[in-house]
Amino acid sequence: MRLINVHKCQSGIKLAKSIYNVNGKVLLFQGTELTDKLIEQLKRYNVSRIYIEDEQSEGIEIIESIPDELRIEAVNRITEGFKSIAELSPNRANIQGMIKSGRAIRSFQKIFRDILSCLNENHSALNLLATTKIHENYVYNHSLNVSIYACQLAIENGLPLKNIEEIGLGAMLHDLGKMYISSDILNKPGKLTSEEFNHVKSHCHLGFEILRKIPEIPLTVAHCALQHHEKLDGSGYPRALKENEIHKYAKILSVADVFDAVTSSRSYRPSMLPHEGLELLYAGSGTQFESKQIQLFKSCIAIYPQGLTLKLDDGRSGIVSKYNFSATGRPVIRIIRDEEQQEVKPYEIDLSSKDNLNVHIVEADSLLY
Ligand SMILES: [Fe+2]
Repeated sequence: MRLINVHKCQSGIKLAKSIYNVNGKVLLFQGTELTDKLIEQLKRYNVSRIYIEDEQSEGIEIIESIPDELRIEAVNRITEGFKSIAELSPNRANIQGMIKSGRAIRSFQKIFRDILSCLNENHSALNLLATTKIHENYVYNHSLNVSIYACQLAIENGLPLKNIEEIGLGAMLHDLGKMYISSDILNKPGKLTSEEFNHVKSHCHLGFEILRKIPEIPLTVAHCALQHHEKLDGSGYPRALKENEIHKYAKILSVADVFDAVTSSRSYRPSMLPHEGLELLYAGSGTQFESKQIQLFKSCIAIYPQGLTLKLDDGRSGIVSKYNFSATGRPVIRIIRDEEQQEVKPYEIDLSSKDNLNVHIVEADSLLY
């Protein structure tokens, strides 16, 4: 199977993976032959890329970091949990609400433990693009992805289990305050007015005020909500904290948060590919984000996911067929076109091997039909 840009899709191609809505309902089954009408619908739902079946990519399987069933269950629990917790007022505590929130937190901890055991069993580069979802509410799906990325990054940092669990919970709840922001503003296509942007920024304080009142939640978790938009150079919000004033958890979380935000499609823009998201993080290395966190993050994500079409600097093109876990930026590529862009009998080259060290990836997502 291979990953292609929906905007370059033609009718008649077959879906290689089912497409789900956030509740886990299958909207389009694997094997469906796409028509012009279905392609238009996918574009309307802001789906940027899909997996398709074709001869050239036969046998290329996508490794899922988190199985679809667990992802769907997790998003459902996060949706319910957020709604229960958001019934609490940031300014007033109530016993009934506290009990419901405590229950939601225990449910989050259960999801988190399942994700953690998945990550521990799965010794492959993280690829969260493997499931195509239609986002009815971006926040829940984003919360899950950020939690997975942050958890893996906490593991790479060599932190003890207790800290990893706190970061995972903090990541799941970091945008809780957005439950109090109008979805018209959150999903507004185009630039926000300064008044609207100030309103969006208030989600950090709102989330913190709620979370710090829930007895089951450590204060460090509440600080994840408060500090996840702070930047090392003081250009972040809400308090423009700098360097060591920012909690270690928030430094990890901000890398995971920005990466997932830019690699997810939104109503106002298509998604970036992982290597583009990583470039954006590098642009802020040492000024916005800790350089060490970006280095560690780079080592654990699938920079070029399996199924992606690439062009090499010698003119050849191919599809990523396998990861090299020790060099995630140098995958194994199934060459399908030669230097003159003529179709060839497919063969594989391993970019991490000595023989191919001079060959570089120059372009990704080029659809070469
Ligand atoms: Fe946020």
